[in-house]
Amino acid sequence: MKKAMPNYLDTILRISQPYLLKTFSQSRFEEFLKAASPLRKVTNRDKVIKDYSEKYIQFVKDDFQAQYQNINEELNSFIEKKDDGLKVLWGDCHTVLKGLKSESIHVMVTSPPYYNARDYSHWKDLDAYLEDMRNIIRESYRVLDNHRVFVFNVGDIFDNDNLRTKAVWGKRRLPLGPYFIKIFEEEGFTFVDDFMWDKGEVQSERHKSGDRPYPFYQYPANCYEHIFVFHKHRLDTTRYPCPICGTLKVNGNTQSEIGLQSWECKNFECFERSKSNRGKRFSLKTLLTQSHQSEIHKIPKDFIKKWRKDIVRFPPVIKINSKGKNVLGHTAPFPEDIPEYAIRMFSFEGENVLDPFAGSFTSAIVAKKLNRVGIGIELNKKMFRNSIIKNIKKHFTNNLFSNNRVKVSEMDYNG
Ligand SMILES: C[S@@+](CC[C@H](N)C(=O)[O-])C[C@H]1O[C@@H](n2cnc3c(N)ncnc32)[C@H](O)[C@@H]1O
Repeated sequence: MKKAMPNYLDTILRISQPYLLKTFSQSRFEEFLKAASPLRKVTNRDKVIKDYSEKYIQFVKDDFQAQYQNINEELNSFIEKKDDGLKVLWGDCHTVLKGLKSESIHVMVTSPPYYNARDYSHWKDLDAYLEDMRNIIRESYRVLDNHRVFVFNVGDIFDNDNLRTKAVWGKRRLPLGPYFIKIFEEEGFTFVDDFMWDKGEVQSERHKSGDRPYPFYQYPANCYEHIFVFHKHRLDTTRYPCPICGTLKVNGNTQSEIGLQSWECKNFECFERSKSNRGKRFSLKTLLTQSHQSEIHKIPKDFIKKWRKDIVRFPPVIKINSKGKNVLGHTAPFPEDIPEYAIRMFSFEGENVLDPFAGSFTSAIVAKKLNRVGIGIELNKKMFRNSIIKNIKKHFTNNLFSNNRVKVSEMDYNG
């Protein structure tokens, strides 16, 4: 009689059971066994390991997400609905973020209001502004998936902080960039990079006293902005399965970055051991990155080259036409280069890209073009809706290579 082949799922479970019982409650453990059991029919060992690991990671994530109970079901169904379109959320981003599931966004990219630089902003003083931004950054940290990235574009502007006087003489350079770094770090993010975006020649003559060529009269015109890269590393000491053998017989190794737990496989039956008989070393981040190294995820070479140095040069968006009219319907759009950087460098196809200060929805448009789910939140529906929707549609219908229209789903959300 032919001997039945041992099933690889049973091998994984035999070795992992003590750890599974530490990770999950008894009822969750039973649920997990039930969910994994169809893998008994799979004969390809690598497929069993891959599917088992994905299921396990999803179970751990579901448990983590269940800890935050203030989510809004309707809002999350709107985000999760697969409609191959672009999602427009009208509302205050702090309120919207509070209703979202934890760790449900794969990359964030934005440019916030630069304090009171535009007519749509009116904070009483700089501290009130920074406090509002802090609350938004705190919620952003919660909704951003673990070991993921927030790309944040901001300029150091010339304005009055209104903390001592409201008079014109109170105006000075306000270094918003450094203030933001401090807040991001205090809210748990790691500051990783600061690209200086050289905007080239600027029209503003602010701060320039060329007509008085003497000491103490000369100041440069402001022609750069920051493009910050912040990483989220919430220290998660849950065991994750070895990518080679799929078992949870792994030991905490060290942190490969602050907040990024790394593991070493201690299963002596594992198929890969180093020359010195060490097990595979990995982290939740390498499980993500190393499983996405196929052709479709490759970043174009020229694009990598463009962002090789931390001073980058590309023009800002020209929104005023020769007749002095704003042709975009928004006063402060950023160029597509910025969301394109965030999306290509830090996400994969099909993932959720969120811009909490969406403005003209540049980030969501670029996300859609790159086959991600583009989501934007914008407060000023009254001021911008018509021009924004027109602008989004124009992007997709004007393209010679695309004959299809984009589906724009909209939702009003006030909490
Ligand atoms: C600098 S603009 C963003 C421009 C955008 N990157 C683009 O390409 O058009 C900032 C935007 O944030 C919006 N905004 C300000 N406070 C907000 C809030 N609490 N929630 C959502 N949007 C907000 C403003 O109305 C403005 O459209």
